[in-house]
Amino acid sequence: MTDAQAISDHWGNGDVYSRILEAMRQAGIAPETVTIEQLAPVDHFHARGFQATVELAEILPIHAGDRLLDIGCGIGGPARYLARRFHCHVDGIDITPPFVEAANRLSALVGMQDAVECRLGDGQTLPYGDATFDGGYAQHVTMNVPDRGAFFAEAFRVLKPGAFFALTEHGLGEVGPPHHPVPWSKDGSGAYLMRPEDTVAALERAGFTQIEVTDTGERYLQSYRAAIALAETGQAPVFGLHILLGKEALQIVRNTARNIEERRTHPVQILCHKPAPAGS
Ligand SMILES: C[S@@+](CC[C@H](N)C(=O)[O-])C[C@H]1O[C@@H](n2cnc3c(N)ncnc32)[C@H](O)[C@@H]1O
Repeated sequence: MTDAQAISDHWGNGDVYSRILEAMRQAGIAPETVTIEQLAPVDHFHARGFQATVELAEILPIHAGDRLLDIGCGIGGPARYLARRFHCHVDGIDITPPFVEAANRLSALVGMQDAVECRLGDGQTLPYGDATFDGGYAQHVTMNVPDRGAFFAEAFRVLKPGAFFALTEHGLGEVGPPHHPVPWSKDGSGAYLMRPEDTVAALERAGFTQIEVTDTGERYLQSYRAAIALAETGQAPVFGLHILLGKEALQIVRNTARNIEERRTHPVQILCHKPAPAGS
C-alpha cells in the first residue's frame, strides 16, 4: 500500500457522507434546509473547529472575487465558510476520496457547488497552473505530509506573487514522541511532525517571506479540556466531530491534549506570503 493510500484510508473510513446525513437526522437537522452554520460542528475538522476557522479568517487578506486554494480541504467546511463570508471562490483538494465526495455533496446541499469545488489529489503534486490563486491555506494537514519541501514548493508555485499562504498544524514538541492514537495517526504510522522552527525553515526554502508564527497550544488545550469534560459527563453533542473521529474519539482527544501538556506536540498557526514583484 502506498503512503497516500494508507493516509487516505486512515481519514476516510467508509461512506462519510451517509454517516453525516444519518447524524444530521439524529440531531433533528433536516438535510433539505441545512445551513453552513448547522454543519459547522462537524465540517471544520481541526482543533477548535469553527472557532479556529473564524479566527484564521480574521487575519487573512481575502477580497471579494478572489480565488483561493484549500489544500487538504477535508469535507469542505472552511472552504464554504470563507467563500460565503468573503464572496470568493475556493478550490479544495484532498487525498481522501470519501472526504472529497462528502465535501462536494455538502456544498450542493447548501447550494454552494459553484463557489466551492473540491477534487481528489495530493498537496505534494498540485494539479493547477502556476500563479493561479490569490491565497492558499492548509489547516491541520501537514502532520501527514512526508515531503514538506514538495508541499510548500507546490503551494508557492500555484500562488500569485503577493498571495498569502496560511498553515495550522501540530508541530513536534521538545519532549519525546506523541502518545497515540491522535487524529492524524493510530500508532505513529503516516505521521510526519516537524519542529516549528524546521517548518519555518522549509517555508523559507520554498520562497515564502513575512512568516508570522502564533503558538496556539493554550487555546487548543482549553478547547480539548472542554470537549473531554462534556464527553465524560455524557453531554457531548450528537452532531459533533466524533462522527469523523470514530469510536476512539474520546481517547484521541485525551491524547491530543496530553501531548500538548507534556510538550510532545507544539501547535502553531503560520501566516506567510509569496513575495510580490519589487515596486508593486
Ligand atoms: C484534520 S483533516 C483537516 C481537513 C480540513 N483542512 C479542515 O480543517 O476541515 C486532515 C485532512 O488532510 C488531508 N490530507 C492529508 N495528507 C494530504 C495530502 N498529502 N494532500 C491532500 N490532502 C491531505 C486528509 O485527507 C484530511 O482530509
